[in-house]
Amino acid sequence: MRIKSLYQNWVKWVLPFYLFTFLPFSVSAEDGHQLWLRYQPVNKAKVTGPECIAAQELRTYSCQDVVLTLDAAMEQDAYRISDGVITAKDEIGLLYGAYELLRRQGRSLDCARDDKGGARDDKGGARDDIFSKPFYKLRILNHWDNLNGTIERGYAGLSIFWKGKDSGKSFHGHPVFVEDPDQPINAELIKEYARANASIGINGTVLNNVNASPKMLSAVYINKVKQYADILRPYGIKVYLSVNFASPMSIPAKGFNGGKPVKTADPLNAQVKAWWKAKAKEIYAVIPDFGGFLVKANSEGQPGPFDYKRTHADGANMLADAVKPYGGIIMWRSFVYGAAHAGEDRVKQAVSEFASLDGKFRDNVILQSKNGPLDFQPREPYAPIFDNIKQTKQMAELQITQEYLGQSRHLVYLAPMWQEFFGFVAPEKLVGIAGVANIGLDTNWCGHHFSQANWYAFGRLAWDPRMRSEDIANEWLGLTFGDKEAGRQGVLEQLLSVMQRSREACVDYMMPIGLHHIFAFDEHYGPEPDGYNAHVPYEWCPVYYHQANKDSIGFDRTHTGSNATAQYREPYCTLYDNINTCPERYLLWFHRVPWSYRLKSGRTVLEEMDYRYTRGVSEVEDFVRIWNEAKPYIDQQRWNEVQARLEHQLENAKEWKKVCLDYFGSFNK
Ligand code: GCU
Repeated sequence: MRIKSLYQNWVKWVLPFYLFTFLPFSVSAEDGHQLWLRYQPVNKAKVTGPECIAAQELRTYSCQDVVLTLDAAMEQDAYRISDGVITAKDEIGLLYGAYELLRRQGRSLDCARDDKGGARDDKGGARDDIFSKPFYKLRILNHWDNLNGTIERGYAGLSIFWKGKDSGKSFHGHPVFVEDPDQPINAELIKEYARANASIGINGTVLNNVNASPKMLSAVYINKVKQYADILRPYGIKVYLSVNFASPMSIPAKGFNGGKPVKTADPLNAQVKAWWKAKAKEIYAVIPDFGGFLVKANSEGQPGPFDYKRTHADGANMLADAVKPYGGIIMWRSFVYGAAHAGEDRVKQAVSEFASLDGKFRDNVILQSKNGPLDFQPREPYAPIFDNIKQTKQMAELQITQEYLGQSRHLVYLAPMWQEFFGFVAPEKLVGIAGVANIGLDTNWCGHHFSQANWYAFGRLAWDPRMRSEDIANEWLGLTFGDKEAGRQGVLEQLLSVMQRSREACVDYMMPIGLHHIFAFDEHYGPEPDGYNAHVPYEWCPVYYHQANKDSIGFDRTHTGSNATAQYREPYCTLYDNINTCPERYLLWFHRVPWSYRLKSGRTVLEEMDYRYTRGVSEVEDFVRIWNEAKPYIDQQRWNEVQARLEHQLENAKEWKKVCLDYFGSFNK
């Protein structure tokens, strides 16, 4: 009897534990496609309750029995896990709870059992009473994917949503793709995408680029969007679309004017309003839970209400009225420059455009703003629009794709930067978070294995912006590389330190002490501090941002200059305006100083640059060293791929240092 029960216990608890724990690491071929969901099927758990995806996931991967229960009184998306019971309002809440349980098991917080068969509770396993609910209702990915399959600022291959075909033509040596709506969707891949997002609580996705093609709203593409919505819905993910404000001028809307477009896109024109209403009806007829529209208007060449001397509120409200009957929302971007306030200091223009419109937007309009006032730089002060808008709903837009932080070639963990932002903009001020996705067709989804951590961290922070970046990194490292083998823990601690230091290192080797936007034109990869082109707007030129000459360097944004500091709430307004109190990490962002100016270190500006660039490079040298030492603990393919990228990152960091010191040094003879 005793032997039988020992055997049963072994089969029930110990065997799955060993399979679960060690199997992943005995498999050498890991290509990163499984992301942080590297669970091996255990197929042992008894799962009772409603039959749903949560039940399937747990039955396959859980090493403990689970009971799923529904409780209508719970808040949407919240879950409770207590003694092997997951409770939630609906199946999506159960799914979030299931992934939390698997996450804990995946990091071996609990699967081994004590000899009485009870759950081990020394590390916070199944016996814990966990309650969790999302901080934000809107946790949305923004894909900048074009209908021809390319991705704006995408560094992990082509789009997972849209496929184009090669036109046979080339542009600057690259093949030119054109749209091909006849291509079938990759349902299996999208299901994997849905699962990955659900596992970190992401519940919305904008399927196309903010620089939107009007064709997105044509019937053939709406039909594709419906197919995506059907795959994503069971995972709790709503679809949204970016729209081109001038769409009524080129695309027919079902039931409107015999399929004829409108001659204008003026938001106050009755026909335009009717067109958008007809288009909303057409979309909601096939996607009843469609989320709404994201709009980039009157910025970087996009059409918008200003083309008709109307305001952003006129434009946003007109769209809001069209989707309102269906519960849809409009996310209107404040990333606007070069329109009504062309010529003004670029970092001031969003506030100039929107502050006077505060309170004039419908309640289903949300103003979506980038974390910084310029454009996703390695370091920016927070965007003061979050101080100036008080009666309109706001969302933050974070960039997961590393456009200005080494793209998919550098290891830069972004959560510390996002956490810094939440230090200035209280999470309570926002109703949601959007993240510009870094996902493409590459096998490992994000190009760089460590870029997956940024997708992961975005989801976790959208769920709970108060999470600490190191806790998220720790979680991700454990799930991605495994933290259960002897000796591995020390390695993961080293990798954690690499991740935590990586953003500051990037600032140091690219743009220390408040330098900004000195990237190579267009590509935004590599240094071009001398960048100037008379044929493009001045604010696209690096020299606009540092304004170095033989005497001084820096952009005076104080009351003696552009007065951008006045857009900040106190104490920041005064703090940033005064060179003695302005944090030196923002020095050249807010202040213009002579080359002889000495920082608190006693070093002159150029000496300080030298010090920081050198420090940035030596940080990357240390990252390379740590990764080399980690080799015995990491599977071969992923180790090789990361190693090659780190070597490249080091070369690029050295290039930044050399180019910038040579260039700035040439002024300061
Ligand atoms: C940056 C980026 C563009 C993008 C724009 C935006 O300027 O380089 O590619 O379209 O931001 O956020 O709209």
